[in-house]
Amino acid sequence: METFLRLFGISSNDNRIDQATGLTEKQKRLVQNTWAVVRKDEVGSGIAVMTAFFNKYPETQRQFSAFKDIPLNELPNNKRFQAHCTSVITALSNVIDSLHDPGLMEASLIGLAERHKKRGQRKVEFQNLKDVILEVLHQALRKQFTPEVTEAWDKTLNAVFTKIYQVYAV
Ligand code: HEM
Repeated sequence: METFLRLFGISSNDNRIDQATGLTEKQKRLVQNTWAVVRKDEVGSGIAVMTAFFNKYPETQRQFSAFKDIPLNELPNNKRFQAHCTSVITALSNVIDSLHDPGLMEASLIGLAERHKKRGQRKVEFQNLKDVILEVLHQALRKQFTPEVTEAWDKTLNAVFTKIYQVYAV
């Protein structure tokens, strides 16, 4: 029966909550399907996130030695900036891809948070970036950002950033 239902994109496990992430199977699918839209244009999506972040929190740009002095309006054409934007989206894609393997997801988030903490990035900056990511998703997905999709993304980002904050708690 399960195999039969899966053929139609339905699963009897759809509403079962995964304790590790707080997400149902259906919510994981909604997140992965909508993330596919964003990752299709890694450079463009990364630029949207990072320029929104620098626009709202200009002081954070100072932490990036490769492009700290480049005016905000010139950043989208700067290749060092584009390269960083791509690596941010790639890192997020790895996290979204591992929603079905919470242990793997946790390991990559802990590694990411440890590298950032060691380099001097603060918890509050992650909190700010989380809000920016949600805003950019909203703008990128427009009509696809239904209340159901919004709830799925809220839960995902909460799970992701809770793991990151754990590194800052020790
Ligand atoms: C979930 C959120 C974030 C993701 C996915 C992400 C991703 C990345 C990646 C993949 C790198 C390169 C590899 C590494 O060092 O880990 C990096 C570097 C860096 N990130 Fe983040 N980051 C995030 C949040 C932040 C925040 C909140 C800040 C605060 C300003 C920040 C500042 C930096 C800086 C300064 C570097 C080093 C850039 C360089 O000089 O090469 N990141 N980030």
